Amino acid sequence: MCLNPEPAVRYKNLKECPMSVATNSPVPESLQPFLSSPKKMLIGGKWVDAKSGKTFEVFDPASDQVIAGVAEGDAADVELAVAAARKAFDQGPWSKMGGSERSRLIWRIGELIEEHADELAQIETLDNGKPFAVAKAADVALAADMFRYMAGWATKIEGNTIPIQLPYAPESEFHAFTLREPVGVVGQIIPWNFPLLMAAWKLAPALTTGCTVILKPAEQTPLSALRLGELILQAGVPDGVVNIITGFGETAGAAIASHDQIDKVAFTGSTEVGKLIINAATGNLKRVSLELGGKSPNVIYDDADLDSAIAGAADAIFFNQGEVCSAGSRLFVQKGVYDEVVAGVSEIAKNLKVGSGFDASTQMGPLVSREQFDRVTGYLKAGVSEGAEAAAGGSALDRPGYFVQPTVLKNASEDMSVVREEIFGPVVAAMPFGDEAELVGQANNTAYGLAAGIWTRDISKAHRFAKAVKAGSVWINCYSVFDAALPFGGYKQSGWGREMGHAVLENYLQTKSVCVSL
Ligand code: NAI
Ligand code: MG
Repeated sequence: MCLNPEPAVRYKNLKECPMSVATNSPVPESLQPFLSSPKKMLIGGKWVDAKSGKTFEVFDPASDQVIAGVAEGDAADVELAVAAARKAFDQGPWSKMGGSERSRLIWRIGELIEEHADELAQIETLDNGKPFAVAKAADVALAADMFRYMAGWATKIEGNTIPIQLPYAPESEFHAFTLREPVGVVGQIIPWNFPLLMAAWKLAPALTTGCTVILKPAEQTPLSALRLGELILQAGVPDGVVNIITGFGETAGAAIASHDQIDKVAFTGSTEVGKLIINAATGNLKRVSLELGGKSPNVIYDDADLDSAIAGAADAIFFNQGEVCSAGSRLFVQKGVYDEVVAGVSEIAKNLKVGSGFDASTQMGPLVSREQFDRVTGYLKAGVSEGAEAAAGGSALDRPGYFVQPTVLKNASEDMSVVREEIFGPVVAAMPFGDEAELVGQANNTAYGLAAGIWTRDISKAHRFAKAVKAGSVWINCYSVFDAALPFGGYKQSGWGREMGHAVLENYLQTKSVCVSL
């Protein structure tokens, strides 16, 4: 496996992998039973067709072939799912179940994910396109770990006792304390770049806090969420606690965002749709948390360990086909080493093995969809016409499927669309900088604020940058390091609230103050 998801190893190994385009490998036989079974929605513990009877097609991005037909839920199905989730929350066993029992169920989901790691990774590779090794070691392993981490919190959700004394009645005595209560029925709308992992990031904290859920996977990649739904039932989670509606954003997603019996919506996806979600939530002022786009700066100083920095910069943008909200898509390189770094990252880009995720030697798969392929190739053309130069890549691959070349754009400048807008593909724009003062201005010159990376041997400089950069995650001499315990989320237009860590519990809990007169 060349693209070892252990970051330190991954950086080093990228350079050593053999070149050439990997051939399309067939879909594993073992997936056929899952693929050929009808793909229904999970509502109130039952697998059901859409009320309209409609289905939509799901594609294999490596071959552009249809792999499954999936129930096309819309507002009518959302209505049923909300009723099931409301019942499970308002009357059902879930809100009455103790933390210890919830914890055991959530832990069991993590175990079941691990037991089905190969199958889930195959589904992810087929549906999303990413290399199998990456799906198994990153997506599936982190998803299992997220449930395990969150299982621990179910027994540790506590309020405080708070001493109070009223200035206008100092002799009166009270016992005051807070309760931490679940926010209620939660709508969760997730994207296609890490389908199973995004479901885990959303479901695990909702379950640990005692909420019930209507989950809507992305229309491009609904399959792993459906398999996860089966595992959630197998774990023993009561009916109606997790409901899964497959369908399109404009119909099913919009119905979730605007529903007045949903108490909170958690969204991951584009900043554009994030703003629509906020507007849709105004009807009942439901809580909103958002994990949105990014255009993250990755900085290389001339005093960095250049071998690690170059491999790290390539990995920051080419990992997962660049379809990563925190991808290091703006590469700032100190002037003295700019040419060397651009040449090094370009060399890696030219040697990356692009192909089917089922080919064991593949390091980068296809983009997820025809739409995303058109979007990324549109940016490649725009970049060149605005004056950037492709030092590596620059176009699509001439073969079936949604394959593009890993691309390094040099001579990029801050006014170009490829530097300002999220591309969400394997395209990095490299820009030189002079000194620290200039760098901080450039790094923060973006509407986004999701992540940032810096490569230097000067720890003071690294820490000064970590303080100055407006981003929710900062990686020093590393990139894309994720852990269930570490909060992740955006400054500025990259979002509201945090995923993971105990920070995410805030999204799903509300505080009640109770005051007793003694
Ligand atoms: P999107 O934001 O439209 O889709 C994300 C999710 O939102 C999907 O489940 C979709 O069905 C749902 N959705 C779409 N419109 C909705 C609406 N009006 N109401 C409720 N839900 C809705 O993202 P899309 O179109 O797939 O990709 C476009 C761009 O968004 C990408 O090129 C990328 O730049 C960005 N993006 C960012 C992601 C991130 O992790 N921050 C993930 C996916 C896309
Ligand atoms: Mg969209």
